[in-house]
Amino acid sequence: MTNIFGHRGAAGTYPENTMVSFEAAYKAGADGIELDVQMTKDGTLVVIHDEKVNRTTNGTGFVKDFTYNELQHLDASYKFKKLWKKIRIPTLEEVLAWGENKKGFLINIELKNGIIDYPEIEKSTIKAIEQHGLKENVIISSFNHNSLVKCKNIAPEIVTAALYMEGLYKPWNYAKEIRAEGIHPQFRATPKEVIDSAQAEGIAVRPFTVNKEDLMGKLISWNCSGFFTDYPEKAVEIRKKK
Ligand code: G3P
Ligand code: CA
Repeated sequence: MTNIFGHRGAAGTYPENTMVSFEAAYKAGADGIELDVQMTKDGTLVVIHDEKVNRTTNGTGFVKDFTYNELQHLDASYKFKKLWKKIRIPTLEEVLAWGENKKGFLINIELKNGIIDYPEIEKSTIKAIEQHGLKENVIISSFNHNSLVKCKNIAPEIVTAALYMEGLYKPWNYAKEIRAEGIHPQFRATPKEVIDSAQAEGIAVRPFTVNKEDLMGKLISWNCSGFFTDYPEKAVEIRKKK
């Protein structure tokens, strides 16, 4: 079965990377969510896509320059202010606690350490995963593949997946070299041949970000391992009809 992951929750209709967005994806019947992790000045792992808070909150500046307490004053739903008064940026810990009682529900944690080298983000992330007993329910992904190798060295049993935009030759071989169990290509870099070859080699393929219904349908028909979408509710409906 093709797993449907709500991208940043259900980011097409809810404020991305917030608890209401994750809950919406879960309620829509998604098999998992995807979220992005950055780190505050005082070392708290927080769930926000950009290095800066500007696009998704009412604040300005780099996440790394805020303490956790300062960050809590920002509104992560200000673009949706007719619907919500104020929504905080969640911590990774909060999302993991929320995921604890959701049997089999998957959480894809994307480490956003491609631009900023957050100190020991791999170690802190794995510690949080272990504390919440979710080692079997998470996938750690990153565009920073060196970071994935670090994760494997710390906790070889936690599944990892390499994010990339394009241009990887035989990506299944590359994944094996870095000991990743999966590849997460941009959807344009995911022809059926790549899916078939990678999966035949035991490497899971989960393209991002799939928002067009015809591509959702194709990936489900091709038995692709999974995909990320801003509209998990649509994807679930399409899968039901197959
Ligand atoms: O993890 C898939 C996707 O989220 C990667 O790209 O920019 O949306 O974080 P981005
Ligand atoms: Ca992401």
